[in-house]
Amino acid sequence: MVNDQHNDKFGFIDAEFDRRNATRQLRELRNVLPLNGIEININGRTMLNFCSNDYLGLSMHPLLQERSIEFIHKYGSGATASRLICGNYDFYEQVENKLAQLKQVESALVLSSGFQANISVIPALADRNSLILSDQLNHNSLIQGARLARCKVAVYRHNDLSHLAQLLKQNADKGFSRIFIVTESVFSMDGDVADMEGLVELAKQFNVFLIVDDAHATGVFGHKGMGLTCGHDIDLVIGTFGKAGGSFGAYLACSKKLRIYMINCCSGLIYTTALPPSVLGAIDAALDLIPAMDAQRKTLHANAEYLRQSLHEKGWQTGSSSTQIIPIMIGKAADALELSKWLEENGILISAIRPPTVPEGSSRIRLSLSALHTRNHIDRVIDVLEKWRSNK
Ligand SMILES: Cc1ncc(COP(=O)(O)O)c(C=O)c1O
Repeated sequence: MVNDQHNDKFGFIDAEFDRRNATRQLRELRNVLPLNGIEININGRTMLNFCSNDYLGLSMHPLLQERSIEFIHKYGSGATASRLICGNYDFYEQVENKLAQLKQVESALVLSSGFQANISVIPALADRNSLILSDQLNHNSLIQGARLARCKVAVYRHNDLSHLAQLLKQNADKGFSRIFIVTESVFSMDGDVADMEGLVELAKQFNVFLIVDDAHATGVFGHKGMGLTCGHDIDLVIGTFGKAGGSFGAYLACSKKLRIYMINCCSGLIYTTALPPSVLGAIDAALDLIPAMDAQRKTLHANAEYLRQSLHEKGWQTGSSSTQIIPIMIGKAADALELSKWLEENGILISAIRPPTVPEGSSRIRLSLSALHTRNHIDRVIDVLEKWRSNK
């Protein structure tokens, strides 16, 4: 009897495992050991890493490590409470002022992570009578944020501003309390770019909010590497330090008024322990380094261009990528998995991306480049890809 109840209670978990096993979608964690910005050891094997978002190689930079240690020595290992209680250590002001100046906005607010920012900032702004217009390829955290807002959400075709304009027109007089456009600047799965000017123009024309997630552009594009949103009149920019920033955490770049609003209304800031001082130390150091890393950005963009060109010459499709994120379109999930495994057997780590992360039939392997990759590394990838194709 006890056993039956037990089985019933956890039956849904077994069913989920069965479903995932049948579709080869059961995910597993693996132990990895980072060796440097571009090599990683897995199960005793050193592999060339094309999966990381450490676009500038900052995760291993000595200045980030030193500043983290300095902050630990001065402030301790934990912030002990949320920022509104007693966790708002004095370095926040320094970091947020630095960030606001670099992003060319009135103010900035550091939050715990990009995911946490997106799922709490959007519901803080939208009420049940709002409308969110969301790009079809938005990151899961933006989708979850829109769901948590419990308002109407309409999805516009990816990067299709005429479709967005049509939805804005259709909904302008429908009595929504407020309307939000939500998009990424550099799209994480396709590596293409949203039209900032066009979006700003539409937001102005229809007097709606514009929210842009600059996660994959921060450190990589824009004035002093401060993102594609830099210099554009965007109501709210969200970004993270966990990618090109080389550490962890997230930021909002916005007006002073919106910053105060978020301090009062954003659950992801109010109901969580402030980030540990070590993380703020790393963020502070990254903000000192990123503006001066034009040479690394140039190498990164040249690497991306070289890889795309080499792939196209061999007949591989890279979709609409124009950034350091380059998908190689494969189609079937099984083929993408097989290719990823083949690459791994040959010492190259590139993950397969498949449904539900991307639409059915558009499975791919996705490469994220680093400024630390060399032409030889990229040539090695092309070589191993070609061998896979000729063995098929
Ligand atoms: C577009 C986008 N937004 C937000 C996030 C989440 O950021 P974080 O890793 O800081 O939680 C990611 C990361 O996967 C992302 O790709």
